[in-house]
Amino acid sequence: MTTHRIAVIPGDGIGKEVVPAGLDALHATARRFGLTLDFESFDFASADYWQRHGDMLPPDWEQTLRGYDAIYFGAVGWPEVVPDHVSLWGSLLQFRRVFDQYVNLRPCRLMPGVRSPLAGRLPGDIDFVVVRENTEGEYSSVGGRIFEGTDRETVLQETIMTRVGVDRVLRFAFELASRRPKRHLTSATKSNGISISMPYWDERVAAMGERFPDVRLDKFHIDALAAQFVLHPEWFDVVVASNLFGDILSDLGPACTGTLGIAPSANINPGGEHPSLFEPVHGSAPDIAGKGIANPIGQIWCGSMMLEHLGHPEAAAHLLGAVEDVLAYGPGQAPLTPDLHGTGTTAELGRAIAERVSERPSGAA
Ligand code: NAD
Ligand code: IPM
Ligand code: MN
Repeated sequence: MTTHRIAVIPGDGIGKEVVPAGLDALHATARRFGLTLDFESFDFASADYWQRHGDMLPPDWEQTLRGYDAIYFGAVGWPEVVPDHVSLWGSLLQFRRVFDQYVNLRPCRLMPGVRSPLAGRLPGDIDFVVVRENTEGEYSSVGGRIFEGTDRETVLQETIMTRVGVDRVLRFAFELASRRPKRHLTSATKSNGISISMPYWDERVAAMGERFPDVRLDKFHIDALAAQFVLHPEWFDVVVASNLFGDILSDLGPACTGTLGIAPSANINPGGEHPSLFEPVHGSAPDIAGKGIANPIGQIWCGSMMLEHLGHPEAAAHLLGAVEDVLAYGPGQAPLTPDLHGTGTTAELGRAIAERVSERPSGAA
């Protein structure tokens, strides 16, 4: 029996609340499927660690994390203590880059029992995946300030698109679309206004599209696409986007499916030379941290994506099925959290899902 070694990094705020619920669900799944998951927890990538060490990560973090098959991550950021750009560039964004996790896979699904804020939408109506470029694009540290403090103060930050970087995420998105029943890929662009990088993105999309004649391809400017997510979410199947556009779409999509609290993400290094990282889409949510009411489902669903990545599709489907079952009971029957219109707590909802993992019949759809 293979043992998977998993590094656990809870981070800040609600990260520390939802990760234990995620681990309970993973333990229950591992028991059910006879898997050995070996978890080790780390306190770095957090504001507490920064306060103690003046840095977000220990010097040997890369070597340490390389020893794991995957990283199970909560959320980082506590702007009262450390500015966000310092904490994020000092941790999560380093992981994505150093471990070349160039695909950020973010499913958006309207789940059974969940009410969409969009009128008349039912489970099944919204089911798409955002494939976000995760290592370059608008997120670059190339740039700077000059003439600071003068009238000529100037700030510059470059967008970087490399042929390798753009093509590899596009190939992943086309391949994913070609395996899904609808075989439909939408590209997010803005080549009308962003006149250098975005026409390049469009060119590469068109070139890659020639290799995938079975995939129906369309493109929208990001502003119009944001509107269509709200008006016609059923139009979308796989949506590929640059780093920043993908970031925005992957909060908007889950909002259309009821709550950001259920949205998972997989930061994948597809070649497998480096560990991949699984984290919810949401952040540390300082506004609700400490209250015990954060929705743990985004974190739990990440566990399912991690199991799939580690080669256990049945266990992954079982865990996600348990989430769907508990959501389908509704706020009257299940301890759903306030974002799902219930009065349950993080711990109660986590426990209900872990119990369902143990109880639900194997192979149930
Ligand atoms: P956020 O995602 O933390 O919160 C946005 C809103 O969604 C808040 O009202 C919050 O209460 C709600 N929310 C988020 N997760 C929820 C959950 N599981 N259950 C119920 N409600 C939930 O975004 P923000 O407020 O922009 O950022 C807060 C901090 O988190 C900042 O420091 C930011 O940089 C950081 N952040 C980190 C990550 C990450 O680690 N991947 C992602 C996004 C933001
Ligand atoms: C996300 C987050 C991060 C991002 C922030 C916290 C840097 O919003 O994972 O979506 O922009 O990638
Ligand atoms: Mn984001």
